[in-house]
Amino acid sequence: MKSEGFRQPFIAQGLYMTSPDLAQTIQEVRDKALEELQGLASEEELESWRILYLGRRGRLTSVLRSLGSLSQEERRVVGAQANQVKALLEESLAQAEGQVKESRIAGLAQEEQIDVTRPGRSVALGRFHPLTQILREICDAFVAMGFQIVEGPEVEWDHYNFELLNIPRDHPARDMWNTLWIDYRDEKGEQPMLLRTHTSPMQARTMERMKPPVRVIVPGKCYRYEATDATHEWHFYQVEGLAVDDGITFADLKGTLYEFARRIFGADRRVRFRCDYFPFVEPGVDMSIDCFACKGQGCRICQETGWIEILGAGMVHPKVLEGVGYDPSVYTGFAFGLGPERIAMLKYGIEDIRLFYSNDLRFLRQF
Ligand code: PHE
Repeated sequence: MKSEGFRQPFIAQGLYMTSPDLAQTIQEVRDKALEELQGLASEEELESWRILYLGRRGRLTSVLRSLGSLSQEERRVVGAQANQVKALLEESLAQAEGQVKESRIAGLAQEEQIDVTRPGRSVALGRFHPLTQILREICDAFVAMGFQIVEGPEVEWDHYNFELLNIPRDHPARDMWNTLWIDYRDEKGEQPMLLRTHTSPMQARTMERMKPPVRVIVPGKCYRYEATDATHEWHFYQVEGLAVDDGITFADLKGTLYEFARRIFGADRRVRFRCDYFPFVEPGVDMSIDCFACKGQGCRICQETGWIEILGAGMVHPKVLEGVGYDPSVYTGFAFGLGPERIAMLKYGIEDIRLFYSNDLRFLRQF
């Protein structure tokens, strides 16, 4: 209790007092009490005040106790007066308590008031890596044309990465893919293991597992034993596409890839197909779009040619179909492979492929 300083018995000699003395003491106690009450602002202070004046050993209580020393007549008069004062003090206390409580609530309301016009705290928003964004965009374009997405292993057998794709052992065509070999072979010791150099092994894996019609796209990571520079990385993404069915023609290939180019690079894009060689397609092509930066006039992005090469494609080679047990006299199909890094670099004017993998926030925050 904080009231210790006030605790000394106020009128210890009250027992010897006379009636006029007592009456006056009561007045004094009343005036003092009311005066002190004025300045009190907290519930603790009010409690100390109550103990000091109205408590069991309080000032007024002591006066009331000393009434016993008066005559009966005096006791009646002074007692009535003392009881009035007691009631007055109690009532004043209740009033003061009410006020303190009210102002405390008002203070709380003030503190907790919400200013709905204040601007909110901004939350740091994450975002997808630019490559994830472009991969989704590319996949969305093909999904809209009826392709389904499949994924495959990044660690692959020679069998799928090369042999089933019409690239036999020791064939010079293997030089097109600088391969990272893994020091491991299958149980018979025949199959070397490698990091897939392209997503094309999923052509064979998909056809082994499905009957035609097949329409899949395969986004995924690939690896090559290559020196890095502004346009080469030793790890990168590809998106493979494969459509096989009864009666698929080169016109389907052209139509599908043309639509894809328009969706990604704009509705007024034109495309160009040129002969190219990949062992697992026949005929094989590469596809270019007219340069969206200079509209075909010739600029830095298209290296003054007006055309930008964006993917390799072709009709699935009969040997590949045979290899997975499809009858090439019944089924035909087309396949393509594109590099999302290159697509993103063209689309966003990124000049160095290594930026995608350098984890530099200054670069990543731009997307
Ligand atoms: N897999 C080939 C590459 O990595 C691209 C390709 C895919 C070409 C499918 C034709 C058909 O270069």
